[in-house]
Amino acid sequence: MSRTSIVAGNWKMHGSRAENASLIEAIAAQFPSTPQAECVVCPPFVYLQEVARLVRDAEIPVALGAQDVCAEGQGAYTGEVSAAMLKDVGCGYVIVGHSERRMGYGEDDPLVARKFAAAQAKGLIPILCVGEQLSEREAGRTHEVVSRQLDAALELCGVEAFARAVVAYEPCWAIGTGHNATPEQAEEVHRFIRGRIGARNAKIAAEARILYGGSVKAGNAGELFTQPDVDGGLIGGASLKADEFLAILAAARR
Ligand code: PGA
Repeated sequence: MSRTSIVAGNWKMHGSRAENASLIEAIAAQFPSTPQAECVVCPPFVYLQEVARLVRDAEIPVALGAQDVCAEGQGAYTGEVSAAMLKDVGCGYVIVGHSERRMGYGEDDPLVARKFAAAQAKGLIPILCVGEQLSEREAGRTHEVVSRQLDAALELCGVEAFARAVVAYEPCWAIGTGHNATPEQAEEVHRFIRGRIGARNAKIAAEARILYGGSVKAGNAGELFTQPDVDGGLIGGASLKADEFLAILAAARR
């Protein structure tokens, strides 16, 4: 099964207009003429439109993603941003259920599933983040936690929705810590996720892109990305450095 990998940069709450411009300029200066993977950047909401313009002007094939979306369509939801708005400013992707939102902003599985649905309803590809905390891994509950997170979206939207979605396995203990999962640990959970989707639809599971996230760097991307069920990465810290990000992109396989 050949799946085109994705390397997505999650900029989190970093950047400024000037920093974004220099980052995109540096990425464009060395962007491969035949990239092995789809490349996505996810800046903060306020910079989406400008980063879209920077990427367009630089003429590089980099897609735009947001870091979150409102589960509601439109209306009196002060401070929220809808899927239609994200589409309107040029997004193709949106991260939903990142662990920083689950843990810091009380987002639970039903809410994340509704965000997943809201994104798809407007033609965005959700990047659904799943992953266990360290205590859950140590208690042998990784599969149980990941299943629960995955099943919420599978049950609300149906397995067919996963033909137009990306899953990101991000063990919480690996995010921003410098301690990435080993390639074997990542592969084991990726295979489990693919199997869980496959129990409902084998073809959709075989085609689904499952990204690994958590302390991916230029130095470990290659060994992670050669695992059979790892189809690229969701990159935090290293996506803010052009050299690192491009090296990670180069490590992705088709
Ligand atoms: P990190 O973050 O690469 O800085 O560990 C990954 C993420 O949170 O998506």
